[in-house]
Formats: sequence, C-alpha cells, structure tokens
Amino acid sequence: MKTKEREYVLGTHDAEGQRLGLQHRLWSDAAHALWRRAGIRPGQRVRDVGCGPGFAAFDLAQVVSANSDAGLVVGVDESPRYVAQAAAGAAARGLAKHVVAIEGDVQKLGPALASRAKDLRALGRPPFRKAFDLAWARWVLCFVPDPDAVVAGVAALLKPGGRFAVHDYFAYESMTHAPKAPAFTRVIEAVAKSWRSRGGDPDIVGRLPALFRKHGLDVTHLAVDHRVARPGDAMFTWPDTFFRGYVPLLVQYGFLKQPEADAFLAEWNARSKNPDVFVFLPPVFEVIGAKR
Ligand SMILES: C[S@@+](CC[C@H](N)C(=O)[O-])C[C@H]1O[C@@H](n2cnc3c(N)ncnc32)[C@H](O)[C@@H]1O
Repeated sequence: MKTKEREYVLGTHDAEGQRLGLQHRLWSDAAHALWRRAGIRPGQRVRDVGCGPGFAAFDLAQVVSANSDAGLVVGVDESPRYVAQAAAGAAARGLAKHVVAIEGDVQKLGPALASRAKDLRALGRPPFRKAFDLAWARWVLCFVPDPDAVVAGVAALLKPGGRFAVHDYFAYESMTHAPKAPAFTRVIEAVAKSWRSRGGDPDIVGRLPALFRKHGLDVTHLAVDHRVARPGDAMFTWPDTFFRGYVPLLVQYGFLKQPEADAFLAEWNARSKNPDVFVFLPPVFEVIGAKR
C-alpha cells in the first residue's frame, strides 16, 4: 500500500479538497441528469473512476443503495488522502457498506480492484470482471497520460449493456472573460500548458468517441453543457475558487511569472465586483458509452 501523496497537478491539499466539494455541488444537477440518462437505479454496481474525496460517490451510493443491500460504488483514486476522506465520508453518511474507496491508478483499474478483493468479498461482492452496471469519470481523463488504458479498464469491468458516463473538457481554452482581457487569456493558456506538461489533455473529449469504439463502447449520448457565470452568481465561485487556488501553483510550477499572476488577480478582483462582466466557462461535455 502506498502512503506517499503523489504529485497530481491540481494538488490534494485541504483547500483543493474543499473546492472539489463546492464544484460537485455546482455541477451535481448535470451529474444526476447524466446518471439518470445512463439508467442508474437501486441495486446497481457503479465504478467511480478518479473519485477524489468522494462527493459524487456519496450521491451515487445513496441512489444505488436505496431499498437495496446490493447497491455498491467502488471509487478509485491515486490520492491516499482523498481515498481516506471518501471512506470516512461514506461512513459518516451511513454508507460504509455501499462505498469502497481504493487507492490506485485509474490507468490500471483491474489491479486496483484486485488489490481490495478481500474487502469486497467481505461485503459479499467478489470483484469479478464484467460486474459493473455503470462507470463514472468526471474531470479525470483530462489529467491522465494514458486515457486509452482508462477506457480499456472501464470497458473490461462493465457488463454487456453497462454504461460509461463521462463529464470532461473539450476546447477548455475557449474559456474567457467578457469583455476579453489579455491577463485572463494568458492564465488560461498557462493552465492548459500545465496540464499538458503532465500528460493531461484539456481537449480529451475530442478523443473519446474513437477510444470508446476501440474498446467496445457505443456512444449513445454526446452533448455539451456550456455555462456562463456572472459576479454574485453561485456559479461564479467555480472559476473564483479555481483561480485563487491554482494561479499561485502556476507560478510555483514555472508556467506564469509572479507579475503576471499579480496582474491577473488584481483584474479578477476588480471584475468580481463588476456586474457588467461575465465568465464564459469551459465547455463541459457529457458522453455516455454503452458496452457491446
Ligand atoms: C479534478 S479531480 C475530480 C475528482 C472527482 N472525479 C470529482 O468529480 O469530484 C481529479 C481527480 O483525479 C485523480 N487522479 C488524477 N490522476 C489519477 C490517476 N492516474 N489515477 C487515479 N486517480 C487520479 C486526482 O487524485 C483527483 O482526485
């Protein structure tokens, strides 16, 4: 069992964990809608691929465990801190029997599942292949160097007819502030560059139809949820918390110079009080693949 926290580009510190919680609340309407479209129901087994601290996993578990002892969500994440938080959060919600959080690499889902075979057997759910009704991956494929391996691993675990539901980015760099501002454009470029430098892809959804086909998943749904946020809106807190947390990391990683970060944050602060501006948020794509 690994104990060291790995260097994931957005970090796994407390403020980032909190941000993931807020982000889940802001996007949970879209997540629940996509799960319904993918046919989620009580009694199912769900794979949460890159589950983070478990915010979506708790919601998924509440649905699949309703009036059912069988419902199970198996989350995998490489962060030991997030995995511990997911397990503790599930227990606090009375969902300990319905959520198993596993530390592992989503690019090696089979071995990750096998590593907790004993615990799954103890819950009466042996971790056999082709046992999952639904897999869910949100904002994870854009960060992994080998998305092909993730899709292959998910496809191997799904039942025939099982669904893989994804929320992720394409054209991330189309995000902008209106009216346009050069300091904002510079930061968006730096964000995308930092993800690419670790093998991520802010255009990952553009590659998914081919990857799904390759691994025996038929795309049954492909759509985009493109939102805007105005200062004062709840949705404005999404880019706000992201930039306040990530811009200092961009300086630390060498993708942005301190004066550029300072200029951006000064402009962001001013615009945050201006009712006449809005943020054109990055397009969040939704994809569902059905296992042949
Ligand atoms: C932006 S967070 C999204 C978390 C969660 N899916 C959600 O929507 O709240 C990305 C997550 O992917 C995890 N992650 C990134 N690369 C990974 C990998 N190769 N294997 C497992 N987890 C990974 C990170 O630790 C982090 O929890």
